[in-house]
Amino acid sequence: MTRQTIFITGAASGIGRATALQFHARGWFVGAADVDLAGLESLKADLQDDCFTAFLDVTDKPAFDQVMIDFGAIAGQRLDILFNNAGIAVFGFLDEVPFEKTLATVNVNLIGVLNGIHASIHLLKQTPNALCFTTSSSAACFGTPGMATYGATKVAVKGLTEAMSVELARFGARAADVSPGIIDTPLWQTGSRFVRGESRPVPNIPSLNHKREDAGRTLPADAVAECVWDAYIGEKLHWYVPPEVVERDKEKALNPEKLRDELIAQQKK
Ligand SMILES: NC(=O)c1ccc[n+]([C@@H]2O[C@H](COP(=O)([O-])OP(=O)(O)OC[C@H]3O[C@@H](n4cnc5c(N)ncnc54)[C@H](O)[C@@H]3O)[C@@H](O)[C@H]2O)c1
Repeated sequence: MTRQTIFITGAASGIGRATALQFHARGWFVGAADVDLAGLESLKADLQDDCFTAFLDVTDKPAFDQVMIDFGAIAGQRLDILFNNAGIAVFGFLDEVPFEKTLATVNVNLIGVLNGIHASIHLLKQTPNALCFTTSSSAACFGTPGMATYGATKVAVKGLTEAMSVELARFGARAADVSPGIIDTPLWQTGSRFVRGESRPVPNIPSLNHKREDAGRTLPADAVAECVWDAYIGEKLHWYVPPEVVERDKEKALNPEKLRDELIAQQKK
């Protein structure tokens, strides 16, 4: 295939869907995977059937291997960008969230990314200048109370990305990640929250934040999709949307105890 190709997990909604639409508009061939079949069908219609779609639970490694074999066959064994984007959010204090939800967060957000990289590496190796790109989060800048496991998985994918950026260089391929702040996507409706083990609605932070103008302001999914392009043509390892989110990383590096103590004080209010 002469067209460049991108394979996106969690492509049926939010950031993944916006990225699929943007890269298709740039003339790329899009592979879209998700557990949401209706969402994939709607994306496929928007792309006039000019795409590859697959039902894929990223936690299922044999299924991921097969999907990448099928995608490779259709895409001429070419993968310019692997976008490990599927993720779930579970809110609540660690001791109040059912433990199976905690494990599911690790399985989707971290094991799913490992599965994706391992299942796709043969395609990345043989595609010049390929990029392995992963969605981290501002929740990785300082472990977010009420999202401890989520934040931990997002820290882990940053570490994984750093190592892969070196390992993949053996083949001329690259790795990078993005840490989005507050992005207006369906995640804020489909995520789950637990208080003392009981399910509760997730506060719609993107609409509650609509007056903010700082790093915590609400941005559309398109802003992250644009960052995927910037990362492909750029060289940075860690990307932030909005860019000011990086300041929290810097703050933590300088004085993690200050951030910890501020968060403890806020929690007491
Ligand atoms: N929305 C935000 O504010 C925000 C901020 C930082 C990071 N993120 C991250 O961005 C990524 C995309 O999230 P989004 O905001 O677009 O949410 P979203 O809920 O709109 O999209 C996530 C998609 O992942 C899919 N998915 C969930 N589990 C899956 C699995 N096991 N296998 C395959 N697909 C699966 C869902 O069906 C959904 O289509 C996630 O990794 C999320 O953690 C989001």
